[in-house]
Amino acid sequence: MTGEVLWYLNRATGIVTLVLMTVTVVLGTVVRRHGRVPGLPRFAVTGLHRNVGLLTALLLVTHVLTAVVDSYVDIGTADVLVPFTAGYRPLAIGLGTLAADLLLLVVVTSLLRERLPQRVWKAVHLTTYVLWPLAFVHGLTAGTDLGGGWLLAVVLACAVATTWASAAALRARRTTPPPFERAAAALASTSAALSTGRPVGVFRNG
Ligand code: HEM
Repeated sequence: MTGEVLWYLNRATGIVTLVLMTVTVVLGTVVRRHGRVPGLPRFAVTGLHRNVGLLTALLLVTHVLTAVVDSYVDIGTADVLVPFTAGYRPLAIGLGTLAADLLLLVVVTSLLRERLPQRVWKAVHLTTYVLWPLAFVHGLTAGTDLGGGWLLAVVLACAVATTWASAAALRARRTTPPPFERAAAALASTSAALSTGRPVGVFRNG
């Protein structure tokens, strides 16, 4: 099967997947820094991060399916999971496959988070910082629309947002006190508030 509709759908879902992936990464760093999104309570930011992440994965499925179904490009079912084996632009498509594999791992470990050791979940989740650049380079090298114009501007804005948010998250990681110190500070603050009747601040970051 081939045709303009499939091709347009593949390109459109590719771009939107990259934009949604950017939103997911930025929201994830906000959650990591215990920060806020104006107008939303903190728990809603976590929910938004999770749901936009799931939507990203769903859209990626459409992007990949349209690539496989379109017989104009030589991309088989196995090429979706095994990187650098596609007949069409193997390197460019392979980077997308690597990104998709990592995203699959991130989604599955997040859905199973309660049953996994926290360290395993976290290690896998941190691969998002690799996943995004892989998807970005894949988009630039495999795509039709990113040679210039406003779509390139959108994707470059995504790159700036992701870099800025990742740098902020790394800074927060260095300046956040360890969990036991935060727990001790929270405990001290609660007992001070109970004895004086006045609320006292605890460690905050972000
Ligand atoms: C996280 C994973 C991925 C993301 C975020 C992503 C995103 C993108 C983007 C932004 C483009 C450029 C669209 C354009 O400029 O026209 C693109 C192109 C493309 N992607 Fe992906 N992609 C991913 C994974 C994959 C995978 C796994 C495959 C196939 C196995 C694939 C197949 C293609 C193809 C065939 C094109 C070229 C479309 C054209 O001819 O313009 N992508 N992708």
